[in-house]
Amino acid sequence: MSVIRLMSVMVAALVLAATNCPTTAQTRAKVIAAGKVIAEKHCASCHATGLKGASPHRHAPPFRTLRTRYDLDNLQEAFVEGVAVGHQGVDMPEFQFSPDATDALITFLKSLRH
Ligand code: HEC
Repeated sequence: MSVIRLMSVMVAALVLAATNCPTTAQTRAKVIAAGKVIAEKHCASCHATGLKGASPHRHAPPFRTLRTRYDLDNLQEAFVEGVAVGHQGVDMPEFQFSPDATDALITFLKSLRH
């Protein structure tokens, strides 16, 4: 195997390791930031997404309270399946996110502490 070939294999392995391993602080910060963007884009019109403040929709729980009410990993499954989590009969649209987007969203939700 040539050196170039070997190096490109190593680079590919590194890239793979980086994307598969959200435990490094930097990667985690990026995932949280991505989740925040999703939450602000799709959820913030009803839910408070920050550490303070009331939700714009008076029945929508602020996201920082979710982790005390839910096992957020179960929520992840529900989101991937596109279920309208806890939204029966409310004026909340049904969401279907990719697994990556869901992962980011849940990681962001987990990062919220109050
Ligand atoms: C149009 C308004 C609206 C939008 C947009 C919205 N929600 Fe909601 N959401 C609500 C309301 C209202 C409730 C409370 C439902 C209830 O209590 O029955 C709720 C409840 C929830 C719950 C369950 C809380 C509980 O304790 O039962 C979760 C989880 C949730 N929303 C997540 C999200 C996420 C994630 C997004 C963005 C992807 C989002 N919502 C976008 C209105 C909205």
